[in-house]
Amino acid sequence: MQIITSADALAVTVTNARQHGKSVSFVPTMGALHAGHISLVDIALTQSDFVVVSIFVNPLQFGAGEDFEKYPRTLQEDAEKLSAAGVDVLFAPDVEDVYPNGNQITQHAGPVGETFEGASRRGHFDGMLTVVARLFDLVKPDLSVFGNKDAQQLFLIRQMVANSNHRWNAMQVVGAPIIREEDGLAMASRNRFLSSDERAWALKISQALWAAEATQGDPAARIAAAEQAMATVPAVRLDYVALVNPATFEPIEAGFVGQALLIMAAQVGGTRLIDNLSISI
Ligand code: PAJ
Repeated sequence: MQIITSADALAVTVTNARQHGKSVSFVPTMGALHAGHISLVDIALTQSDFVVVSIFVNPLQFGAGEDFEKYPRTLQEDAEKLSAAGVDVLFAPDVEDVYPNGNQITQHAGPVGETFEGASRRGHFDGMLTVVARLFDLVKPDLSVFGNKDAQQLFLIRQMVANSNHRWNAMQVVGAPIIREEDGLAMASRNRFLSSDERAWALKISQALWAAEATQGDPAARIAAAEQAMATVPAVRLDYVALVNPATFEPIEAGFVGQALLIMAAQVGGTRLIDNLSISI
């Protein structure tokens, strides 16, 4: 596996792979890799000939008072995991390579960027889309892979690509299933911040999603079931729970029938966690 830190060197390597007839896939990450990230890599490996993974903790997508400084940075271990998985290139750029003209927002998420995660994290999605667009420009992949864990993020990336007037040619965006710990907790880089008590409380999040899925009744009853489950652990502060239409990321309307996405965010101690489940309505 080649480790590349400059945008120019990346362009040379990817161009070379293309000249050898290889299809290129891309998995952007912020590092502190776990099995969820590696599952995206495995999908990329099966669907293309040359896999680029980026690790970049993007300052633009963290708000004031969020955990940018504290975000786990474990480059050495991450490189070992990616190399073992069979990745071709680890791109770990400096901020100057990603933002040569300074940290400027170039992408706007629009109305869906203001709701749910965007309501609690102002500007987060504009910053996230800005880095993803920049990374797509640098890698120019045929295919990119993102996790359903960050469902709103994935929705907004698909929307950006659809509205980009083929800026990234026919690049395909692939969504990947949520990888969970054995007990159900969705894997997340931030889970390592949880104390053992918090780790136990955090389990309620996935359990609440499953409680809502198991509840018979209308969407309001499903949401109430999730809220009730969360209320049993007062130490966990529920931010939102909602049923959204995956085609619009807006709350489902009366009479909705089909697969809806039950999305949830909660604060466990100092750690913000999100999860979701597709349920049949
Ligand atoms: P990060 O949180 O590192 O996640 C990188 C990718 O891994 C995302 O597509 C995310 O949805 C996926 N992922 C995380 N946990 C997962 C799990 N348990 N199962 C499956 N996939 C999982 O998301 C970001 O970084 C950043 O916003 C980024 C897109 C890299 C832009 O900075």
